Amino acid sequence: MAIRCIYTKKEERMNPFFANKVVLVTGASRGIGRAVALAFAREGAQLVLAARSADRLAQVESEIRDLNSEALSVPTDVTSPGAVTALVDAAMNRFGRIDVLVNNAGIGKVGGIESAAFEDDVRRTLQASLFGMINVTQRVLPILRQQGSGTIVNMSSVMGRKAFSRFGSYAIVMHAVSAFSDSLRQEVASGDIRVSVIHPALTATDLLREAEEAEMPPPFRHMTPLSSEDVARAVVAAVRSRKRRVVLPRTANMLLLGEALSPRIGDLIATALTLRPIARLLGMSRGKTYHETILSHPKPMKRPG
Ligand SMILES: NC(=O)c1ccc[n+]([C@@H]2O[C@H](COP(=O)([O-])OP(=O)(O)OC[C@H]3O[C@@H](n4cnc5c(N)ncnc54)[C@H](OP(=O)(O)O)[C@@H]3O)[C@@H](O)[C@H]2O)c1
Repeated sequence: MAIRCIYTKKEERMNPFFANKVVLVTGASRGIGRAVALAFAREGAQLVLAARSADRLAQVESEIRDLNSEALSVPTDVTSPGAVTALVDAAMNRFGRIDVLVNNAGIGKVGGIESAAFEDDVRRTLQASLFGMINVTQRVLPILRQQGSGTIVNMSSVMGRKAFSRFGSYAIVMHAVSAFSDSLRQEVASGDIRVSVIHPALTATDLLREAEEAEMPPPFRHMTPLSSEDVARAVVAAVRSRKRRVVLPRTANMLLLGEALSPRIGDLIATALTLRPIARLLGMSRGKTYHETILSHPKPMKRPG
């Protein structure tokens, strides 16, 4: 009877769209990726979790089991083709299919173009956030083609449409992710394979924890970050409604529209966002800043190696 009760509860919260679908999330050990994995689990999906930190992944796997969903965690460095092949093989051996791939693993560095570290920051970010994404996509796509269906969600950023100062290395790579998604979407358009790209604004994760507040791009110093859960909800909704592109929050579209009209207007809006009352008017400065939010979170365990 008790078992029947639990089963019924799981059935009740299941969204038929995602029930028993297999969702592979990279960068699932924390931040946005963890929130995305939990959001799909709440919809009744089965999860494959990838990131480098085995212990943090195991923790997320157990959180998913607590939601009565199945999960398989596979410690993976997405920059390693061998590790990515092993990840996809493990997913197929366990579940026999992949319905949704969320390419979310990545890093981000803050620093001006004249800084000595700039070129290295570009290389490292390209390696983790772009080449990692290409690696995983190239190994998953033949499976989606064979199935005749599937969705690929790529995590970019508002910086993938409009760069800010002191965030050049990140913006270069996020623009590349956006272009990669655009090409990919058109290459797979003839089948039932969908591609969505997500462009969130600053989000309260550990991505930029190491950066001092004064080093951040000026508008970021007073901006209220999105939560990982805000982004996760948008990812689930994008897959369900087959959205090609999602910008979060919606008001950030004004910046992107201004930039599309003319870089002068884009720069004007970016500069205006450094003024707290304007950021507040656009709903981007509503409470705690990134640093105030992140410093109240416990510091993550250091990844071994
Ligand atoms: N936070 C923001 O403001 C923001 C805004 C827009 C877009 N984004 C994008 O959202 C994505 C997730 O970032 P986040 O904010 O959640 O940052 P985060 O908390 O630092 O999480 C990054 C995730 O990526 C994983 N990862 C990094 N390098 C990896 C590699 N080589 N192989 C496998 N996994 C790797 C990390 O796990 P391990 O260290 O365990 O490998 C972690 O799970 C990134 O692509 C980022 O560019 C973030």
